Amino acid sequence: MSDALNYLIKARPEAMQAYFTFLKESGKHLDPKTRSLISVITKIDSQTERGLRQYLPRALRDGATPHEILDAILMAFPTLGLAKIVWAMDILLDMDIPEFRAELLGAEVEWHDLIDWAEVRDGEITYVEDCDGRSIFIYRCGDDCRVYDSRCPHQVTDIPHLALSGMRLTCPKHEWAFDVSTGECVDKGTRPLRQFDSRLLAGRLQARW
Ligand code: FES
Repeated sequence: MSDALNYLIKARPEAMQAYFTFLKESGKHLDPKTRSLISVITKIDSQTERGLRQYLPRALRDGATPHEILDAILMAFPTLGLAKIVWAMDILLDMDIPEFRAELLGAEVEWHDLIDWAEVRDGEITYVEDCDGRSIFIYRCGDDCRVYDSRCPHQVTDIPHLALSGMRLTCPKHEWAFDVSTGECVDKGTRPLRQFDSRLLAGRLQARW
C-alpha cells in the first residue's frame, strides 16, 4: 500500500475503513479474474503506475491469460484512448513479464528442461539461471521437489540468487520474504512464490509453464 494511503488510514480510519468496505462489497459477485481485469483498466485510466505494476501480475495469478488482459485493455480503448494504452504498454514492457513477451504470446504451455536431477542437492535450494527465458529456484526433499519462478509475486522483480539465505528468499525491491521449502510468503507480503508443475524424464528435471 502507498505511503499516502497508509497516512489516510491513520489520520481518518473510519472514513478509510468505509472506503475499503465499499470496494470489497462492490465486487463481491465477480470472480477474482474479472475483478483483477477491471482493476487493471482502472489503474490505467487513473495512470496509477504502482497499482498497474501490482495488478498486472495479480491478473495472471487470478487466471487471466496475457491475451485476455490485452483484450480487456484494448476493449477499454473508447475510454482510455491511445495515449493511456501506450503508457500502460511502456510499463508492461519495463516489467518484462515473460508471459507478455511477443515471441511467447502464442506459445502453448509446455515442458522445459531445467537440470540433471543428480545435480539437485537434497535438502538444499538449487538455482538455475535462464531456462528458456526465466530463472528457477528448486527445493529438493528426497524424491520430491518444488520448482519456483524466480520472479516475485508482488511486482515481478527477478529475485537474484544472492537474495537467498538458507531457506529464506528475500526480494530486494520491497523485501517480501519467502520460505523456499514451502513457497509461502513469511514476511512483509501476502502471496506465495509461483510454483510450476515438474517431472523427471530420463534423469532430467523438467518444469511446465
Ligand atoms: S517486487 Fe515488491 S517485494 Fe518483490
